[in-house]
Amino acid sequence: MPREKIIAGLDVGSSKVACVIAKKYELDLPEVIGIGVTPCKGLKHGSVVNMKETEHAITAAVNQAEENAEGKIYDDELIVSIKGQHIESYNHSTAINVTRTDKEITPDDVAHVIGSAKQIRLGFDKEIIHIIPQDFIVDGQRGITDPVGLEGSHLSVDAHIVTGLSSAINNLGKCVSSAGFECKNFISSILATAEVTVSEQEKKIGCVLIDMGDQTTDIAVYLDGSSRCIKELPLGGKNITMDIARGLSTSYQVAQDLKEQYGSAITSLIDVKEEISYLSVDGRTQKRTTRKTLCDIIKPRVEEILSFVDDEIIKTQYKDMISAGAIITGGGCQLLGLKEACEEVLQMPSRLGIPQYVKGSINGMADPALACGMGLIKYSYLPEFEKSGRCKTKKPGILTKVRRMFEEMI
Ligand SMILES: Nc1ncnc2c1ncn2[C@@H]1O[C@H](COP(=O)(O)OP(=O)(O)OP(=O)(O)O)[C@@H](O)[C@H]1O
Ligand SMILES: [Mg+2]
Repeated sequence: MPREKIIAGLDVGSSKVACVIAKKYELDLPEVIGIGVTPCKGLKHGSVVNMKETEHAITAAVNQAEENAEGKIYDDELIVSIKGQHIESYNHSTAINVTRTDKEITPDDVAHVIGSAKQIRLGFDKEIIHIIPQDFIVDGQRGITDPVGLEGSHLSVDAHIVTGLSSAINNLGKCVSSAGFECKNFISSILATAEVTVSEQEKKIGCVLIDMGDQTTDIAVYLDGSSRCIKELPLGGKNITMDIARGLSTSYQVAQDLKEQYGSAITSLIDVKEEISYLSVDGRTQKRTTRKTLCDIIKPRVEEILSFVDDEIIKTQYKDMISAGAIITGGGCQLLGLKEACEEVLQMPSRLGIPQYVKGSINGMADPALACGMGLIKYSYLPEFEKSGRCKTKKPGILTKVRRMFEEMI
């Protein structure tokens, strides 16, 4: 790799597309040089449902990030997040015999044992996005992070395998190429997010990352330094906003503003008597309510989402091993009192996941809604990145590229 390279992360979320452009250095943290964010209505629960809307939002977000960075991204530099309820993960072990007389394990043996995990039986139209080694075992000895050079006749690997529905992945790939860009890799949205919100120590001693987005809440459990399970719930900030819109009989936009400005998941952090005024759904009548009433609407929905999160953590059977607690990120984590509600429902210490481990001084870098975009950049530093979710959709044609150049000129 040259000493410095421009790369871009594209987070295609349920409420917005975010593009982060960064300089990737060989021996240093990535430096964010441009951010572009565009609202997008082309996805439902993380999967593309309207290709044109998604394509336009991708074009607008990348153009904005390029303007911000005062430079262009070129082919093969775009790393795209993938999410949706079709994403599944498994823990799987495979083994090979080392039959050579010197019995010294080579990089080829390691590639072979990891590659043999691809033999896992997948459902119809599924494909592997990630094979993440958790632990290598040489002749029964566990806890080996790099077995190359060791002697042994039996090499096995425990791996975390993430799969997705080929059609859903291809649909997103098509939106990216119709927008005029070439996708290098697809990376699981929550695994990318972890790279800028969770520390190596937290991953080691056990933690759960919760990304509360607009239409989804993603969960990833980490233990002994690697991911053990990822899961997505079809609930997020939008459900809270809808409850407010219905409960106060107002428009979705007013409800969203009320939530973000005055909302809270717990009453102890607000002045319960404080009054707030808002516009009714008719767009003319001014109404009044209290922050306590708003909180009474928000609280049960937050508790419901968090109790589903807790159910998923319990199902993984790792709950008792999560010693570092929960890290909550995504736009939804900015709700006042969410950290406290999380501690209450999950019964574990919690903190907010503000993006870190990248450098730069661009506006928005501390926004948890942009954690995934920045995480995609950081994920590209991992050894397993090159083999992750390769894009199989066709490259943008020359006409698409010319159209993009033309659109930029007008
Ligand atoms: N201050 C705030 N208080 C409460 N909620 C907030 C605040 N700021 C943003 N949000 C909520 O965060 C949500 C958007 O988060 P985010 O941008 O992470 O979602 P997304 O990535 O587009 O969606 P998803 O991850 O579900 O695909 C919206 O529901 C928005 O109302
Ligand atoms: Mg998101």
